[in-house]
Amino acid sequence: MRPEPLQGRRVSPINGKSEAIVTVSFEKALIANRKPLLSGLAIREFFRNPLAVGSAFPASRHLVESMLAPVDWKDMGCVVEYGPGTGIFTRALLARLPDDARLLAIDTSAAFISHLRERTRDRRLIAVRGSADNVLGIMADHGLDRADCILSGLPFSTMPPGRAARLMDRSCRALAPDGWLLAYQMRRAVGPLLARRFARLATGFEWRNIPPCHLYWAFRPG
Ligand SMILES: C[S@@+](CC[C@H](N)C(=O)[O-])C[C@H]1O[C@@H](n2cnc3c(N)ncnc32)[C@H](O)[C@@H]1O
Repeated sequence: MRPEPLQGRRVSPINGKSEAIVTVSFEKALIANRKPLLSGLAIREFFRNPLAVGSAFPASRHLVESMLAPVDWKDMGCVVEYGPGTGIFTRALLARLPDDARLLAIDTSAAFISHLRERTRDRRLIAVRGSADNVLGIMADHGLDRADCILSGLPFSTMPPGRAARLMDRSCRALAPDGWLLAYQMRRAVGPLLARRFARLATGFEWRNIPPCHLYWAFRPG
């Protein structure tokens, strides 16, 4: 059964400000997302490796806006993105980050990384083909010490639990003491991993994406 639309306001669990609650039906989400919903590259990569890619649809602009809006990006010096795919979040991050910031985007897919390098020519972007499992080594290779924020689009639900826990431990070590870890996922597997490791955790849900997504904002790794 489809959920009914919900509207109203609530106090943001992140910045304490009043914010609109907008959820819409799946059909409206399809119509509202004016950017192309399909990408030949995303579909090819999904069928090549469905467990790693997780979805054949790139993120919607609604998902990007909901995920990035609560965070203040203007003072960030180093951001790491896990699983940039076709680069929807990457470009939105670059639009928000200061001129002297660095954005390290790590993806296991060679095709996604070539696409990102060709389409997103920005001197702040470092696009690396590799695994988020090796985040500490990849950061060191590029002279990056600590990240102010990690944004993850990884499908944690398809990872063996031990690997997911190790990846999260390494991510905490890669973050500055007051760093953020942001994650979006179809399923909730990443929630308990974050709750165990961060002092503060806020959650959300975005219907206007295919598939609809759980959102997590974790602050201050402990
Ligand atoms: C759900 S897609 C997200 C794509 C894109 N961020 C978006 O929202 O449209 C997951 C991405 O994670 C990548 N990926 C999967 N496992 C990875 C890993 N261990 N390290 C880095 N990237 C990984 C996949 O290749 C894919 O690009």
